[in-house]
Amino acid sequence: MYAPILVAGATGELGGRLVGALRQRGTSVRALVRPATDPAKIAALAQLGAEVQRVDFADAAALARAYAGASCVVSTLAGLREVIVNAQTQLLHAAVAAGVPRFIASDFCSDYTQQAPGTNRIFDLRREFQARLDHAPLAATSILNGAFAEVLTYNIPLLDWPQRQVGYWEDADWRIDFTTMADTAAFTAAAALDAGAPRWLRIASFQVSPRELVGLAAQAGRGPLALVRLGSRAELAAAIQQRRAANPAGEQQLYADWQQMQYLFSMFSVQNSSLDNDRYAGLTWQNPVAFLTA
Ligand SMILES: NC(=O)c1ccc[n+]([C@@H]2O[C@H](COP(=O)([O-])OP(=O)(O)OC[C@H]3O[C@@H](n4cnc5c(N)ncnc54)[C@H](OP(=O)(O)O)[C@@H]3O)[C@@H](O)[C@H]2O)c1
Repeated sequence: MYAPILVAGATGELGGRLVGALRQRGTSVRALVRPATDPAKIAALAQLGAEVQRVDFADAAALARAYAGASCVVSTLAGLREVIVNAQTQLLHAAVAAGVPRFIASDFCSDYTQQAPGTNRIFDLRREFQARLDHAPLAATSILNGAFAEVLTYNIPLLDWPQRQVGYWEDADWRIDFTTMADTAAFTAAAALDAGAPRWLRIASFQVSPRELVGLAAQAGRGPLALVRLGSRAELAAAIQQRRAANPAGEQQLYADWQQMQYLFSMFSVQNSSLDNDRYAGLTWQNPVAFLTA
């Protein structure tokens, strides 16, 4: 029996899947939720077998009490500065105060260690939090999974089903990392139980280029799709700057249009060169054709 794993962000898309994956491993899970959280979301977590703790993250003493005896904090929070930097710092300070030995940050994205600061607003916030995490007296881990594979169902320019096209910038053969939320959650559950997990773990359910995506869609019976060059990376960067300047309200929005373009820019700028998929036995990885078929 493992010491409890604390999950902050358990009411979210990834967090809920993580709670399920931890429970499947027989681990005891404490879900930290905000006091005003929707009771239906709390009931769903209780149904999964999690112990739900309603905590105001600004209340350090209450957080430390909720942490008692835990072996790892996993954050799957999503947001802008007040969440990625401020709320995660509150979680981190409480972990140190309560003597929790490990912290997995809410990264779950492309490898921003390879990307220049200033090119993705969220990655800059992650970097800012990582600097605090790296100075804290506990063991930190970050999981870099590329894009959630589910983005391929959102009609983004990379895979636009209504237009029947796969769009790319710069290089049609550039391989992009995709990991389903379920695979990310299953791997994160294993990492949460791995006291020797390293600082960085890189995973992907599949790595495919735009050109390969066209072929895979055909194999999945979803073709034919056209392969369309949308410009160079420099042109995409310039378009992002223009769009950002034209949409100041987006500074307060988590998924502003230009932020989505910044994620696309990251997908075409960095890739995981080696993967840690095999670190834990028993995990399976989503096949791209099966994913596109479904
Ligand atoms: N790689 C990719 O393609 C990709 C795509 C999407 C997300 N992500 C990343 O994956 C991680 C999880 O995202 P997700 O999609 O699961 O997010 P989500 O569904 O929006 O869930 C966000 C969670 O954060 C909590 N939260 C938000 N603001 C908070 C605050 N101020 N204080 C405390 N809790 C707060 C929410 O709690 P409530 O229920 O109380 O609101 C919820 O549990 C994030 O790091 C996100 O950036 C990656």
